[in-house]
Amino acid sequence: MSHPSQPPSPPGFSALSAAAEPPVIADLMQRALANPHLLSLAAGFTDNALLPGPAIAESVAALSSQEEPPAFLQYGSNAGRPRLRELILRWVGSFPGERLERFDPASVLVTNGSQQALYLAAQTLCDPGDIVLVESPSYFVFLELLRGLGLRAVPLPVDPTGALQPEAIRARLAELSARGLRARVKACYLMGYHANPSARSLSLDEKNTLPALLREAGLVIPVIEDGAYRDLCFEAPHAVPSVLSLTAWEGFPRLYLGTFTKPLATGLKVGYGICDSPEWRARLLTAKGHQDFGTSHFNQAIVEHLLAHGRYQPHLDAIRPAYAAKARRLDSALRAGGLEDAGWRWSFPEGGLLLWLEGPPDLATGPDSAFCARCLEAGVLYVPGSLCFVDREPDHFVRLSFGAIAADRIDEAASRFCGVARSFG
Ligand SMILES: Cc1ncc(COP(=O)(O)O)c(C=O)c1O
Repeated sequence: MSHPSQPPSPPGFSALSAAAEPPVIADLMQRALANPHLLSLAAGFTDNALLPGPAIAESVAALSSQEEPPAFLQYGSNAGRPRLRELILRWVGSFPGERLERFDPASVLVTNGSQQALYLAAQTLCDPGDIVLVESPSYFVFLELLRGLGLRAVPLPVDPTGALQPEAIRARLAELSARGLRARVKACYLMGYHANPSARSLSLDEKNTLPALLREAGLVIPVIEDGAYRDLCFEAPHAVPSVLSLTAWEGFPRLYLGTFTKPLATGLKVGYGICDSPEWRARLLTAKGHQDFGTSHFNQAIVEHLLAHGRYQPHLDAIRPAYAAKARRLDSALRAGGLEDAGWRWSFPEGGLLLWLEGPPDLATGPDSAFCARCLEAGVLYVPGSLCFVDREPDHFVRLSFGAIAADRIDEAASRFCGVARSFG
C-alpha cells in the first residue's frame, strides 16, 4: 500500500504541486533521445498509417457546407454537443449485453480525452489522503494522477493469471477497516476491456463478484470503469457489459469512460463519461467548467459527423484486423527471438495495443535497471512494468506496445529486445 509522504511545500508553490512528480516515462523518453535510431515499443500512440485522414477531411468539408454560420467554430456547451451525447449513448449501448435504456443524453459528458474524465472523477470524489482501489497492475498515468492529488492507491489482489482474487480482496478490505481506513476509501477504478498494461478484460464473474465483496465490506463507493480500449478489440467485442448494465453494481454510483482518441484519432482528444448519479454528474460538470468550459467544439463536431453518418464502424472494421496483425507480428517475433527460452512469459491479447510480458523473477527491468540501460543502448524502448504497480513492485514486468511502431519495424524492435533479454538470461 502506498502512503505518499506529504512533501514540504516549496516556497511559492502548493503542496499539491510538490506531490505531483514529473512522469518517470518522460525521463526515459529524454534518455532515449540520445539514440536517433531508437525504435519505441513504449509509445501509447496509434499507427499513423491507420489514421482516418480522408474520412475526417470529408467530415470537415461537409460540416463547413452544412452549418452556416459555422457554430462549431464557437465555444460549445460545457457538457458537449447534444447530438454527440445522444450518439455516444447509442454507441456504448450497441455493445453486447448493454442495457442503457434508462440513460438519457444528460448522463453523458464529453471530455478532453478520457484522461480529463479520470482527473475530474478523482477531483470530485477525493480529498488528500483518501484511497482509491485499483487493479494490479493499473494504468500508470492514473496512478501518477492519484499521487499528484495527494491520494493513495490500494491494489486489489490478483492471482497469477491476473484475475481478481476474491479471498485476498476480502482480506485486504477487512485490513483497511481494521486500520480505521474504511471511510477514506472513496472510489474503485477498473479497466474492463483490454486493460493498460495487462491487456486483460474482466470476466463476468470477476465483475459480479467485486461489488458483492465491496458491499460486504460496507464500501458502496463510486466505481469508475475505464473502457479506453474497448473499441479496439481484434475480433468480436468482449462479451461482458460495462458496470452501467450489471445489476450487481446497482446502488453504486457509476461512471463509465470511453474515448475516440485511440480508436479514431488521438489528436482530436475527444473522450466521454456516462454517469448514473445526477449529483456526481453535476459536480463533474462544475469541475469541468472550471477547467475548460467545454471540449473543443470543432473536434466534437467532427466525431459527431462520423458517428451520425455511419463512418465510425467501417473505420473500426478496417483498423481492428490491422492492429491484430501487428500484435501477431510482435508476438511471433518475440517467440522467434528466443524470449520464452530466456524465461519470459506472456499471453496473446484479444484487443488493445499492448503486450504485457513477465520476465524472469530475478531480472529487474525498472527505469534505473541495467536491463533498461542495455535496451536503450540497443535502440529499443519499453515501459518498465514496475511503473504500473502501486509500490513499484514487482520489478520484472515489461509493457510493449505495437500501436505506434510501423508494422515493418516490429521485427527489428523485437530482435533488439530479445537480444538484450537473452544476454541477461
Ligand atoms: C487506460 C487508459 N485510460 C485512459 C487513457 C486516456 O486516453 P485519452 O485521454 O486519450 O482518451 C489512456 C491513454 O493511454 C489509457 O491507456
